[in-house]
Amino acid sequence: AATTRYEAESSPAVCTGTVDSNWAGFSGAGFCNGTNASGAYAQFTVNATSAGTATLGVRFANGTAAARSATVAVNGTAATTVPFETTGAWSTWATKTLTVPVKAGANTIRLSPTAADGLPNLDYLDA
Ligand code: GCU
Repeated sequence: AATTRYEAESSPAVCTGTVDSNWAGFSGAGFCNGTNASGAYAQFTVNATSAGTATLGVRFANGTAAARSATVAVNGTAATTVPFETTGAWSTWATKTLTVPVKAGANTIRLSPTAADGLPNLDYLDA
């Protein structure tokens, strides 16, 4: 099926933090710089044509030396935990591919940091 790009800065996506554009290389109007705290999140709403498994491509940058991990919840249920490794610079973006279960129709995909250092910067999600 065709891939749809869901920009982190575009409603109905939610970014608990700020939408920034100070690091080059992002798609669209900016990226989600989530609050550096547990409880912060970035949420996407992904449409699936049928129930099953969706492959998600999450574009991110992590300019710190340490990985930042996030729990990925689908429709409120934790599906997987993903490490977002350092990309070496905040202006260097990489794509993490993950597989999650989805239902037909709209699905919320919420990334929540597992530690208080927060999320990587998030550009978009392809699904
Ligand atoms: C820096 C960087 C931000 C990033 C933040 C972080 O402040 O400029 O883009 O989000 O670090 O550690 O998350």
